[in-house]
Amino acid sequence: MIAFFSATGNSRWAAARLAAVTRERLVNIAEALTGDCVYNLEPNERLGFVFPVHGWRVPMIVRSFIRRLVVNGPQGESTPPYCYAIITAGDDVGLTIEDYLNPAIAANKSLRQLGISHVDSAWSLIMPESYVGLPFMDVDKKEKEREKISRSDQRLQVIGEEIFDRKKSVIRLDHGHWPWINSHILGAVFEHQLITDKPFHVEANRCVRCGICAQVCPTHDIIGGHGLQPQWKHDGSCLTCFNCYHHCPHHAIEYGQRTRHKGQYFMK
Ligand SMILES: Cc1cc2nc3c(=O)[nH]c(=O)nc-3n(C[C@H](O)[C@H](O)[C@H](O)COP(=O)(O)O)c2cc1C
Repeated sequence: MIAFFSATGNSRWAAARLAAVTRERLVNIAEALTGDCVYNLEPNERLGFVFPVHGWRVPMIVRSFIRRLVVNGPQGESTPPYCYAIITAGDDVGLTIEDYLNPAIAANKSLRQLGISHVDSAWSLIMPESYVGLPFMDVDKKEKEREKISRSDQRLQVIGEEIFDRKKSVIRLDHGHWPWINSHILGAVFEHQLITDKPFHVEANRCVRCGICAQVCPTHDIIGGHGLQPQWKHDGSCLTCFNCYHHCPHHAIEYGQRTRHKGQYFMK
């Protein structure tokens, strides 16, 4: 199975491409969290995680999923299922796999019982930027978006074959220049200070009350819908994934003053 989380569609695209190669089922983490998160693996079925990096760490929603996840292995299988991860990022991933994903996997009892304590292999894919919450951050230029997607498309073909062949110890990650500082120090600031829905608001004169923002929010943090102006719940569930902002057809959603005149992106 391929458990994926995606806000703006990059990781969903990668997961779907991969599923076409491995012919394994896709599990949408945001939807799975509304259920029991219990899965039975078929004989020889692989276990994959595909998600974006958030603040050089594993997104909170993926960590919640792994905490709740119960995977039952097929009867009588002696080798642990092959486990891998693909993470998508605008630039670099720091120590997302080594210091955040692997410990989350190791802490899961059902995975430990199956003999899985870390990923066998991991890859990063550099994809169009979706984070616009800081003054110096914006989406990529269209040309750069196209280049990133085209390069990742080629890379995915190779990754798909490696995963199909269950290649182990392949660690092909864009760690960046200061992976420890980014994941541990900036990542902590990011997680504790910047993940909040408080600055989100709608420009009433541009909002057409279409309800798209509420529909695309992966954590159902927006009260709204067709005919209603969106209101954020401020209940701690927001991931600041900016899916509401990027999908607004009239660019009516802003994050404080920080998103004024910035671009929008989602993978079509
Ligand atoms: C909250 C948030 C944090 C992000 N943090 C990082 C990061 O630490 N490093 C990076 O290179 N890209 C970062 N990005 C960019 C995304 O990881 C990248 O655009 C990803 O492909 C989006 O995947 P998705 O479309 O599946 O949601 C961040 C994006 C968001 C929304």
